[in-house]
Amino acid sequence: MSVLITGGAGYIGAHIVRLLVDRGDRVVVVDDLSSGDASRLSGATLVRIDLAGDGARERLGSAIRDHGVTSVVHLAARKNAAESVTDPAGYYRDNVGGLAAVIGACADTGVRRLVFSSSAAVYGTPAVPRVDEAAPTQPINPYGESKLVGEWLVRDAATAHGIDAISLRYFNVAGAGWPDLGDPFPLNLITIAIDRVRRGLAPSVFGADFDTPDGTGVRDYVHVMDLAEAHLAALDALASRQQADSPAGAQVFNVGTGEGASVLEVLDRLRAASGIRFEVQVGPRRPGDPAAVVADPAMIAQQLGWRATRTLDDMVSSAWQAERPEPTASLA
Ligand SMILES: NC(=O)c1ccc[n+]([C@@H]2O[C@H](COP(=O)([O-])OP(=O)(O)OC[C@H]3O[C@@H](n4cnc5c(N)ncnc54)[C@H](O)[C@@H]3O)[C@@H](O)[C@H]2O)c1
Repeated sequence: MSVLITGGAGYIGAHIVRLLVDRGDRVVVVDDLSSGDASRLSGATLVRIDLAGDGARERLGSAIRDHGVTSVVHLAARKNAAESVTDPAGYYRDNVGGLAAVIGACADTGVRRLVFSSSAAVYGTPAVPRVDEAAPTQPINPYGESKLVGEWLVRDAATAHGIDAISLRYFNVAGAGWPDLGDPFPLNLITIAIDRVRRGLAPSVFGADFDTPDGTGVRDYVHVMDLAEAHLAALDALASRQQADSPAGAQVFNVGTGEGASVLEVLDRLRAASGIRFEVQVGPRRPGDPAAVVADPAMIAQQLGWRATRTLDDMVSSAWQAERPEPTASLA
């Protein structure tokens, strides 16, 4: 199998690349290195393309042909929800425009297997804490919207071009599979808290009066290695379906553990992992923050045979122990 991974030099992509290389697949990474780091890649070929730039579809098509690519995993995107509120056009250009180039190149070259990085952000502020894939999709920022539009585009590409596709809605990704592949950007609770503790500052808690057991927000954290393995399960399912001549379709799966952890629980694990007895700073809720969002992961277990196996302790301790490379771009 020859797999092309866009955004493979990023945090999640580098884990998928390493797992695929380790099992003997040929891997081509397409990345513009805007937030990625080429030094994370070994055993994979890197082709530098800005997928939202001029001529991206054609350049990507050439890379697909040159390397005999049979499957594409599309991760390349911008992911800072707050930034997307102030730069919606940039997020639509990069996240939707980039995906359009990928789908165009797949259609031009006859690639029929696509895995797309979506996000739990498509659910917005759900009415119920536990969401399955049929829950209403009501994103609350342009980042989440760009992922939802992406899922629609993927679905339409299945119909128009016979591209068999799986969109994975990641919940809160954390941890590191290897110490050199930590998440360099403090954009979620775990990385932000680690960043503050390392600088001798108290992590912030936004809202301690939610309707949850300890009053703080509850989320579903999934280990990046479990997530990377979900991509391998998706690629393998697409390959088997193609071998069986199954008709193309577009499936959507939650990727989470099905277990929620509160902000205070996560911070407690960080105290244990770091050995530092830090205090916390409690502030008001942030607008739009739901009390709890937890995945119902039953469908991916049933259909792809994937389930998360790593614990919150694994996530927090591997994130704490990961090397701390300087962020390569303006995300932090
Ligand atoms: N990290 C999370 O918690 C999370 C949660 C849900 C969904 N996602 C999605 O997962 C994917 C990967 O996220 P990540 O955490 O690894 O982010 P990341 O920023 O570490 O990786 C993104 C990669 O894409 C590349 N890239 C960005 N724009 C590009 C473009 N126009 N052309 C070519 N390459 C480009 C970057 O250089 C980088 O290597 C993204 O689509 C993100 O929206 C992430």
